[in-house]
Amino acid sequence: MLATPETTVPRLGSYYLQTYGCQMNQYDSELLAWMLEGMGLAASDDAERADVAVFNTCCIRDNADQKVYGRMGDFKRYKAQHPRQVLAVVGCLAQKDGEDFLNRFPQVDLVLGTHNVRELPEMVLKVQSGEGRFVRAEKQGDTFDLLARPTRRFSAMVTISMGCDQWCTFCIVPYVRGRLKSKPVLQVVSEVRRLAREGHREVLLLGQNVNDYGRDLEPRSDFADLIDALRGAPGLDRLRFTSPHPAYFTQRVIEAMAANPAMCEHVHLPLQAGDDQVLKRMKRGYTGAEFLDLAARMRGAIPGLALSTDIIVGFPGETEEQFQRTLDLVRQARFDSAFMFAYSPRPGTPGALFKDQIPEDERLDRLYRLIELQNSISMELNAIRLGRVAEVLVEGPSKKDASRYTGRTRCGRLVHFEAEGDLTGLMARVRLEQHFTWGFVGELQEHETRPGDWSRAAA
Ligand code: 5AD
Ligand code: SF4
Repeated sequence: MLATPETTVPRLGSYYLQTYGCQMNQYDSELLAWMLEGMGLAASDDAERADVAVFNTCCIRDNADQKVYGRMGDFKRYKAQHPRQVLAVVGCLAQKDGEDFLNRFPQVDLVLGTHNVRELPEMVLKVQSGEGRFVRAEKQGDTFDLLARPTRRFSAMVTISMGCDQWCTFCIVPYVRGRLKSKPVLQVVSEVRRLAREGHREVLLLGQNVNDYGRDLEPRSDFADLIDALRGAPGLDRLRFTSPHPAYFTQRVIEAMAANPAMCEHVHLPLQAGDDQVLKRMKRGYTGAEFLDLAARMRGAIPGLALSTDIIVGFPGETEEQFQRTLDLVRQARFDSAFMFAYSPRPGTPGALFKDQIPEDERLDRLYRLIELQNSISMELNAIRLGRVAEVLVEGPSKKDASRYTGRTRCGRLVHFEAEGDLTGLMARVRLEQHFTWGFVGELQEHETRPGDWSRAAA
């Protein structure tokens, strides 16, 4: 009797993968998913019954830690039902807590820090064969030999550097992600070109301090050189990067952006605070006036540029007057959007040791006042764009309603619109009809019939 595929291909089980935090973690999760699939496991949404459950974690603020700790409780129950399930915690919180994580949660089998992610398959097999529970959290490592494994056909992320040498006093990143390590220029260029050739018309370059790129390379390079080297990559319609640091944003980078037609008119430029004393205590390396000057030069060189930012309120010692200077700077900078946070002391960082911590209710009060101001600015700036037709790269149908599509403009704004057929990965022109703080609802005008039609016609 001939064997059917079902009898010859063993079912090796399933995996559940949950990702918290920034795009660097999403990128690592693409690698994790690829490795888990290489083990013969199939992706599953069923956390309870999955043979291997992996949490890719974040520790940037205390609430990020708490989310993961909270989820561990569920697995106490799941593992009572399915004792052979392997529970792995990887990434930044794993790096931060190390051994403590295993001690605190007996249901956890495996803790893998940021530099040990690629050991996942080997370590899962060890756990499955009953060799014990493990912690691997080395201080430095190199994972650049793993290339991007994008999960979306039309858009891809490429890590150009890992780690950060800036040591802002509020930030735990340098402690858990290590020192700056840049990927060689030729490697980035060949990776981006390959991805574009394979149909990834949008590429997002990633780094914790993305424009400090290249200082550690031999021969030395920099971010402006890299943007130049990526000019003219066939099939690359949109190039983005995140997150740059204002103090490293040279005039050459601005010029390289302006000279690269694929470069999107959007920069996420973290401000953090508007008061010079607070910026100094944060160790940011620029003043409010320098930030505004940089924003003006960027807007002057790149027509239609959208600026978004990150802001922390209630940093230790911040007075009401200093907070008011953040509000003033936000009024002057007119960011299109912002991620806004109440300061969260992180163990081991200088900020956590500063004596003059601000009470939580005051931090939250400042946060709500800032959000209100920024939301009104976002609404004003979005209102100006009503009636315009924007180029949207369609990301796919909405989960709730298959006839409603979601995409992003070159400026990174979300646009929802109605359409028939599958437009995923195509460019569309959409008239912006209604505005919200998060983006727009619009009306479809026209769309490509095949990916790349419009860019080929323009070339
Ligand atoms: N508390 C609050 N926000 C923080 N961020 C980083 N560290 C902290 C902290 N300890 C914010 C910064 C950074 C963003 C990714 O997270 O604004 O740009
Ligand atoms: Fe953290 Fe960014 Fe400062 Fe580096 S530059 S320490 S990642 S906030």
